[in-house]
Amino acid sequence: MTLVSPCCRAALTGDGLKCSACGTAYVAQDGIPVLIDPKFRASPLFEENDRRYRDGKVPWTYDRTAPEVQKYEMLIDAVSAALPSRAAAIGDVGCSLGVLTEKLCELSDDVAAVDLSPSAVARVKQRLGAKALLAAASATALPWPDASLDVVLMSDGLVSWKLDEAMKLAALGEAKRVLKPGGRALFMDYLTPRRHHELLDPVRAVFSVERVVYLGDRLWYVTESALRAFKGTAPYDFFAESLKWASAMKAVSSLAGPAGSKHLCAVAKKPLRVEQEHTPRSVLDGDAAH
Ligand SMILES: C[S@@+](CC[C@H](N)C(=O)[O-])C[C@H]1O[C@@H](n2cnc3c(N)ncnc32)[C@H](O)[C@@H]1O
Ligand SMILES: [Zn+2]
Repeated sequence: MTLVSPCCRAALTGDGLKCSACGTAYVAQDGIPVLIDPKFRASPLFEENDRRYRDGKVPWTYDRTAPEVQKYEMLIDAVSAALPSRAAAIGDVGCSLGVLTEKLCELSDDVAAVDLSPSAVARVKQRLGAKALLAAASATALPWPDASLDVVLMSDGLVSWKLDEAMKLAALGEAKRVLKPGGRALFMDYLTPRRHHELLDPVRAVFSVERVVYLGDRLWYVTESALRAFKGTAPYDFFAESLKWASAMKAVSSLAGPAGSKHLCAVAKKPLRVEQEHTPRSVLDGDAAH
């Protein structure tokens, strides 16, 4: 896997920070290439997102609560099922501090990861060294070549990034572009059931969805909110981290079908041949005119 410019998807020259096609100059921060459009980099949204990671801050607790552990198990199972071999390439988009990226490195020798926050990616570098190819980049303009990945993940995720509809579609288009034909994309988000469609509708607009996995964790979250007054005590921690409790609750919650889940994951496949997609007539006519 190599990095390309997000503007033209062309080789990066010299110090690896200049687009060989249009000359756009990118920067590096703490040894991490920041392959983000210079205008976007100057925006309050970018600054606000990065600030959450500065000075050692941890914006989310990822791997401790039981549903988070179950979430990672589900993702790792789905990635393992989709990977042809250890040489297969995986891309982790929105990698944050690299908790998931680290698990992916156990499955493949070719893992690339990006996050919008250069401060977060710098900390992934401390965690993983050269095990993963790292860059700061936006999901809406990925710095990876066309058809270069076997699996791409957008976990917490497409909806939580608060992109407008056009940007959400741009991120989905990028996921499709970087996948090899036949490759899989995994879109995981955490939503109340009446909002599941905010993930599923745009994914279905771009991909054919093979299956949706529902984590069955809603009862756990309902119970957790009732116990929140005890946060910081040993009994609360015991509940929050107990996989036994979480599995028992999952069995009950799953009886409600999708309504019993907050985490859900759409597993989508890029068609093997372009003709399998329903290309709009106007696009084909436009192509013929060139
Ligand atoms: C909740 S964390 C995801 C953690 C990780 N993927 C996981 O499942 O454990 C969300 C991350 O998305 C990043 N992010 C926000 N907007 C993004 C964008 N447009 N492109 C890429 N990453 C983005 C944030 O900086 C943050 O680190
Ligand atoms: Zn360019």
